[in-house]
Amino acid sequence: MSTDRVSVHGGWASRWVFILAATGSAVGLGSIWKFPYMVGVYGGGAFVLVFLACIALIGLPVMLAETLIGRRARQSPANALKALALEAGHSAKWSWGAFAGMITALLILSFYSVVGGWSLDYIIDMGRGDFQGVTADQVGAYFSAVTADPWRLTLWHTLFMLLSALVIAKGVVAGLERSLRIMMPLLFVMLLVLLGYSMTTGHFMQGLHFMFDFSLDRLLDGLLPAMGHAFFSLSVGVGSIMVYGAYMPKHSSLAGTVMGVALLDTFVSLVAGMALFPIVFAAGLNPSEGPGLMFISLPFAFGNVAFGQLMGVVFFVLVAIAAWSSAISLLEPMVAYLVERTKIRRGWVTFWLAFSCWFVGLGTVFSFNVWQQAKFFVNEGDAFHLYRWGAAGGLDFFGVIDFFTSRIMLPLGGLCFVVFAGWVMGREAVRDELSLRSPLLFTLALFLMRYVAPVGILVVFAAQLWK
Ligand code: TRP
Repeated sequence: MSTDRVSVHGGWASRWVFILAATGSAVGLGSIWKFPYMVGVYGGGAFVLVFLACIALIGLPVMLAETLIGRRARQSPANALKALALEAGHSAKWSWGAFAGMITALLILSFYSVVGGWSLDYIIDMGRGDFQGVTADQVGAYFSAVTADPWRLTLWHTLFMLLSALVIAKGVVAGLERSLRIMMPLLFVMLLVLLGYSMTTGHFMQGLHFMFDFSLDRLLDGLLPAMGHAFFSLSVGVGSIMVYGAYMPKHSSLAGTVMGVALLDTFVSLVAGMALFPIVFAAGLNPSEGPGLMFISLPFAFGNVAFGQLMGVVFFVLVAIAAWSSAISLLEPMVAYLVERTKIRRGWVTFWLAFSCWFVGLGTVFSFNVWQQAKFFVNEGDAFHLYRWGAAGGLDFFGVIDFFTSRIMLPLGGLCFVVFAGWVMGREAVRDELSLRSPLLFTLALFLMRYVAPVGILVVFAAQLWK
């Protein structure tokens, strides 16, 4: 069998570089920006509990499936599924699942880049001293003023997309390693410093209670959002991790590596939450603030401590880098695919894809200002409107893209990948790729991919429908 394929896009120098790149992909705005605000919106502990369960029982098996498919095929996601399916005597149509995933990744990138742009914007604002001595009301108003300005958002969105495209155009393997080697550890340190600060606010215990106390009756509310976010946070369900797996050296342990990446990512999310909520409570901010939560609470903290200005700049630089290394992994699957399938140069492929994502991203930019009133899927008790200007409920453009990608497409993509690894690739291929020493561990891994994860995904979907 073809286990000695090589990737045309290059390969990581070692297993450590894969860990670095995969952690770079997983750790990003999902952990630092999205996780805390979702915990706030979906009521604290109940959400955290479901999220952790989904990481362990669903996210991890999907991540394992993605890496092992990627490393075995050493091609972009759609081509990988096609090659392995044909090899195992199944239909090439499996590649459609990966294709849908690659499109989903581009849709995620469209709004990811806008929020990445906010963190770039805040580097400058911090450095200028805009937040020195601010009050809680002022930081809130500041965030509203930033997001009310479509030109300003577009400027930073454009810059963020350009920075991401630059690395992709050069080839991920060459571009990522150097920057991540220093920046990722620094980000961990900065988060711990922030956590240390939170402990001095006098509201640390309140933050912990908010994050870890739960009442059973709220468990169901955040079920689908929490599962969707487990996928989002681990970067699984679209082929990001699969394409990185394709560049992984042959002889390195998959299961251990994947577990390490997932643990680091979850650790960052929890620390980010534990650092943020005490600040939120100390400042009297609203935990269910939504997407602005991090951009309101942190500047408030940095604006009111010694050396806050410098620390704030460093922090937002690190957030921007974490976001940038995640954005790269969203673009890479489709770029790799088109480079394999067409004769177009990598640079051009990157340019056109980045441009398309940028264009769709304008919708998210406008969601916070000129299209704020444009609401989709409005449910007004007795009437349902697909679209209605100025409705009270419903989702804005950003909400629609976020909902569609995180809650529908990521779980479906994950389902496709675990089922593929569990049932389609063939037991022997999986055993060979995992090369676990203990037969018991292999059985466990296969069991997770065959039964636990697929059933888990379906149960969450079903629970959502019948709620
Ligand atoms: N996991 C990243 C974050 O938390 C975002 C991300 C990168 C992603 N690649 C992905 C999300 C693929 C879903 C699918 O910020």
